[in-house]
Amino acid sequence: MLDSLPHLLARRAHLPAQGTTFYRGVHTTETAGEFALDVTGDVGVLSLYADLSPEEEAELAEACGKAAGLAGIYLKRRPPEARHAANVERDWLSPPDPVWGEARGEVTALENGVPFLIRPGADLSIGLFADARPARQWVRQHAPARVLNAFAYTCGFGVNASHGGAEAVKNVDLSRKVLAWGQENYALSGLNAPDEDFLYGDVFDWFRRLERRGETFDLVILDPPSFARGRAEVWRAERDYGRLAALAAAVTAPGGQIMTLVNHAGVSPASFERMVRLGLEGTGRRGRAAESLGAGEDFPGATHLKAVVWALD
Ligand SMILES: C[S@@+](CC[C@H](N)C(=O)[O-])C[C@H]1O[C@@H](n2cnc3c(N)ncnc32)[C@H](O)[C@@H]1O
Repeated sequence: MLDSLPHLLARRAHLPAQGTTFYRGVHTTETAGEFALDVTGDVGVLSLYADLSPEEEAELAEACGKAAGLAGIYLKRRPPEARHAANVERDWLSPPDPVWGEARGEVTALENGVPFLIRPGADLSIGLFADARPARQWVRQHAPARVLNAFAYTCGFGVNASHGGAEAVKNVDLSRKVLAWGQENYALSGLNAPDEDFLYGDVFDWFRRLERRGETFDLVILDPPSFARGRAEVWRAERDYGRLAALAAAVTAPGGQIMTLVNHAGVSPASFERMVRLGLEGTGRRGRAAESLGAGEDFPGATHLKAVVWALD
């Protein structure tokens, strides 16, 4: 396995040459599900799915760092049981210091030439999800005038919409911390965005509020987590997406579009489309699945991410 690392990494050599220094260097489909390596500038982020001893972890990290010519490697432990266990130590899942090589608190990495601030030791999520690069590129290439970026995280879609020529972009997220990070990403790109473009709070509340105000958008982007425990209820993408699509339709202008994303291997493309279609039909709006996108070429064989652009009547 370790012997094949240079060969696997060489397959992505064209990405930095094309202005992308944040990408998946080795995907789980290439490692029998044991690990994945994300490259961000001159450091790597090693996601571990197998249960390895500390010595094995150190050996793997060093092999990845050397094969990819990186300065340091950060570790993310992702055992299946940790997903819902509240008592798993955050610092154990995502050690703040590198497991190999030099530390980098922050890295500015490029995606198709657009800079993003990546914090490799910050958390399990480091500031951008590499798999959605094709969806972000679509937004940049097709950005209409008014865009609503729901579940914005660090505003990757919002920044791309602005680069693509959108006149007004609103980013909504439940975390002030990630919205502030998003504002830093706007600033890195030299984009001026007023504070009012960063809407703090629950997307479901914001949809109702925007609808009451009569605000509509030409493109609404939906990128929710697959599972979340809310104040009153539990959100499950595989059950609740139709309801979310219906709320989004209420703030989508006539002839507008909704981009729906789901990150869940257990949701098939057909069932995802059916759920959204039914949700839209319930509002009396008709939607046509105009475009389907998946994870980028650096995620060979990946089926977890589905992005569908719906053209509404
Ligand atoms: C999968 S990430 C979104 C990724 C993001 N769209 C991107 O481009 O990188 C999910 C985000 O949704 C936010 N979130 C989860 N539930 C939310 C809710 N009910 N309302 C607003 N934001 C929510 C989280 O804080 C997190 O930033």
